[in-house]
Amino acid sequence: MKIFLAADHGGFELKEYLIEKLKKQKYQIEDYGAFKYNPRDDYPDIVKDAIIKVAKDKNARGILCCRSGIGVSIMANRHPKIRAAVAFNKKIAKETRQKNNINILCLGADYLSQKQALEIVKTFLSNKFLGGRHERRLDKINQYHSKNRGNIPKIKNSDLRLKAKRIILRPLKNSDAKDIYLNIQDKRISESTLKIPWPYKIEDAQIFIQKTKKSLQKKSEFVFGIELKNRKEVIGCIGLDKVNFEHKNAELGYWLGSKYWSQGIVTEAGKLILKFGFEKLKLHRIWCCIFSDNPASKKVVEKLGFKREGLHRETSWREGRWRDNVRYGILDREFERS
Ligand SMILES: CC(C)(COP(=O)(O)OP(=O)(O)OC[C@H]1O[C@@H](n2cnc3c(N)ncnc32)[C@H](O)[C@@H]1OP(=O)(O)O)[C@@H](O)C(=O)NCCC(=O)NCCS
Repeated sequence: MKIFLAADHGGFELKEYLIEKLKKQKYQIEDYGAFKYNPRDDYPDIVKDAIIKVAKDKNARGILCCRSGIGVSIMANRHPKIRAAVAFNKKIAKETRQKNNINILCLGADYLSQKQALEIVKTFLSNKFLGGRHERRLDKINQYHSKNRGNIPKIKNSDLRLKAKRIILRPLKNSDAKDIYLNIQDKRISESTLKIPWPYKIEDAQIFIQKTKKSLQKKSEFVFGIELKNRKEVIGCIGLDKVNFEHKNAELGYWLGSKYWSQGIVTEAGKLILKFGFEKLKLHRIWCCIFSDNPASKKVVEKLGFKREGLHRETSWREGRWRDNVRYGILDREFERS
């Protein structure tokens, strides 16, 4: 585990002591200063780089010291990927690591002996996040503070089951991994999309399902499995991604198992998803990016009433070449409800 340490003049001596002790254990220590005692240094200047390092690596931890620990914790908590807390004994260090999943520990050198501080550090480094209800709460903090969230509409579980003549759209379940894996086994699907890997392994499907569950909980993406009514098999996926509730727009994406192509299935699914986007999510605009050499997908969005808005040249490096993207969009008032 990488540990980034930093301290201003108030925490300088404590940081030096902790580095000496931690180096004797098996941690990878990186000292971000101050490198000498300077009574005139300012903690924001000293600790900023260590904070960025921790934010960039989800397995890393940070330890920041100043006189009270409070200044550095205020600085650290401004970063959206940091959860920092001041701990003044082992009990609170354990609790804040387990429940708040803190990735930066802040120590007040004026209020702790060096030995006490070392015990707190050991507790911080040896405890794990408990997840569960604590994860839900942290997700809520992110939701309230992330940009572009606007007013998030209430969505009931029953809103997430959409029915048409031949298909049902519903959130993905762990047990869908095999259907997804089998239906996606056509290189043309990966070639026509931006993120679907090739070759595609069963683990890719499992990871994808977990990701869709998390993003559905956060309401940042709404991905649905396309289930054939008569066979109860997930034959593809369709969803709204990059959902922005402030500007009320989202991106549409989809793929379908190739043995089901050209039977109007994604057009059927598209109508359901547009209705869901405009009526339940209260979106104003839904857009779609399609590689210029994908006539079937262009046909789908044109049948759904999207308007071609322009060509973005060489936006994506895929399949070892630059690909042009055609942008399509549809506004709430343009969507024909039937
Ligand atoms: C694009 C895709 C989702 C379309 O799904 P689908 O259920 O077959 O779509 P639909 O049947 O509803 O409509 C496809 C239309 O394109 C037409 N089409 C298919 N291949 C075509 C081609 N090579 N040239 C021109 N039109 C074509 C079909 O005939 C149909 O039009 P029609 O209804 O007028 O006959 C599916 O082909 C797919 O998964 N492709 C790979 C992944 C992908 O491209 N995803 C979208 C990324 S933006």
